[in-house]
Amino acid sequence: MSAPKIAVLPDRVADQIAAGEVVERPASVVKELVENALDAGARTIRVEIEDGGRSLIRISDDGHGMSPEDARLALQRHATSKIRSVADLIGVGSFGFRGEALPAIASVSRFELETADGAGGIRLRVTGGTIEGADAAVRQQGTTVTVRGLFFNTPARRKFLRAPATETRAVSEVLTVLALARPDVAFSLTSDGRSLLDAPAAGRLIERIHALWGRDLADTLLPLGTRLGGAEVSGFAQRPSQARPAGRKAYVFVRGRPVKDPFLLRAAEAGYRSAIAPGDRPSLLLFLDLPGDAVDVNVHPAKAEVRFRDRIQIEQLVEAGVRRALAPLDAAAPIGPGGAAGPVLEATTWEGTGTIPAGLPTELFAAETPGGRPRGPELLQVFDTYLLFQTEDGVAIVDQHSAHERVLYEQVMRQLSGDGAPAQRLLLPLTLEFTGPELEAIDAHRELLARVGFELEPFSGRTVVVHTAPNPHPRFEAARCLQELVGDLAGGRFGGWANRLERFGATFACRAAIKAGHHLDPEEARELVRRLLAATLPAHDVHGRPTIVQLPKGELERRFGR
Ligand SMILES: Nc1ncnc2c1ncn2[C@@H]1O[C@H](COP(=O)(O)OP(=O)(O)O)[C@@H](O)[C@H]1O
Ligand SMILES: [Mg+2]
Repeated sequence: MSAPKIAVLPDRVADQIAAGEVVERPASVVKELVENALDAGARTIRVEIEDGGRSLIRISDDGHGMSPEDARLALQRHATSKIRSVADLIGVGSFGFRGEALPAIASVSRFELETADGAGGIRLRVTGGTIEGADAAVRQQGTTVTVRGLFFNTPARRKFLRAPATETRAVSEVLTVLALARPDVAFSLTSDGRSLLDAPAAGRLIERIHALWGRDLADTLLPLGTRLGGAEVSGFAQRPSQARPAGRKAYVFVRGRPVKDPFLLRAAEAGYRSAIAPGDRPSLLLFLDLPGDAVDVNVHPAKAEVRFRDRIQIEQLVEAGVRRALAPLDAAAPIGPGGAAGPVLEATTWEGTGTIPAGLPTELFAAETPGGRPRGPELLQVFDTYLLFQTEDGVAIVDQHSAHERVLYEQVMRQLSGDGAPAQRLLLPLTLEFTGPELEAIDAHRELLARVGFELEPFSGRTVVVHTAPNPHPRFEAARCLQELVGDLAGGRFGGWANRLERFGATFACRAAIKAGHHLDPEEARELVRRLLAATLPAHDVHGRPTIVQLPKGELERRFGR
């Protein structure tokens, strides 16, 4: 008989294997230990690292601490105070529940746990998983965990550690994420004695964002808050005009737990459609709140992912939430500091919210009797380009071209999916010449062109006859618009747009809109603003630029020292 080939692994080996999943680098140690501190109800958490966490990681908290017996138990595998049965996993509110972190970290380091629960305190020293010392400790209630020589006994893993600066950055990132999850708790991080993060307890998330990243980012964020069924999304979405191609901040929290979920971020980005420049990536902070049984948090050893019972619903919620955050007029950027200064445009006397009413003449400035309709405040056109008017709490400044683009885009998208626009038959048909690629573009978009009002017929060679044209405003030049539009379609401009229809709509809107430098008579200007305010996303044009900027009354007062 040969010796059995199978043996149950000693606990120490099992701990080291678990450490492979949970403890990848100093940042993961910090994550686990800070989560424990939060679970213990800490109000203040201090993190100290040296040499990128290689030589030292120390986390101190003022939470409820542990009794000496609990402290010993906590170092055993699957020892947790947070759940008692699998049923408790449903809707688990604590960060931890697997009971793996402390033994795993202790198995690959020189570890010290000092804790006191108010009645008694203890200091336990553990080397590579073996308890080497236990002394009574006198200290304030709370816990301090010190991790030295991470991976000293697993050289293969130690070799995988990156340069101290890289590990430090990862630690800082982990702490930033947890600091976002819990603005009410004070966090600090020092690295080799230098303070890298210092966030005092805050009442509101925006104050925490401010403390972490400063005003410049905080001022570009629009608040988010939408509910769908039992689920709710809150947080912040960046103004599209302030988004940049690189360096955005994007975080998702599910029931207070930070998770990696690129699909939810993508759903949020979908909410920006037609309002952001292709390639710009908005900063996003998404906090999802949903019933505990609608999400499974136990699908990833480091709890970095979750599984939703109804993912499609959650993605719809996120997309709708972003859309709604962009919709109010107040989503327009203010001049001066203080993005969250308060509503400026919200309470304007201009009528109109929701969509542009159906049944309006397609020609934007077609004479409409203002009878019965509130006239709104006086308008002033300056530089033949901007329209100024007073609002409840400030001055709104509208860019006439951007504004008209937004209005035309929304109108044209309805026409493209509906009956099309009433076109105007030209008394003298136009004959225009195009290049080969342009003729191809015309061919490929003939149906869409007809829907916006251009009825075209190939004539001979490179010539096309135009029988009908739209008439979006009195200064409209049908031939020029068509040439530019076809040029754009052939040249692949607007390439970043999600679909062909939207791309066409945006291109048309851009080329058909009233240009800067055109004088508008007061009724035309009034009608343009009225329609802009009735659009679904009035504050953003189709290139990711603003249509409106706000000059808050408070800013004027500040400048004049009132
Ligand atoms: N900072 C702390 N303050 C108080 N108790 C703690 C702290 N860290 C760990 N504990 C206790 O030790 C237990 C084990 O911690 P851990 O191994 O991280 O597992 P888990 O967090 O999954 O329960 C926890 O359930 C908790 O009771
Ligand atoms: Mg834990």
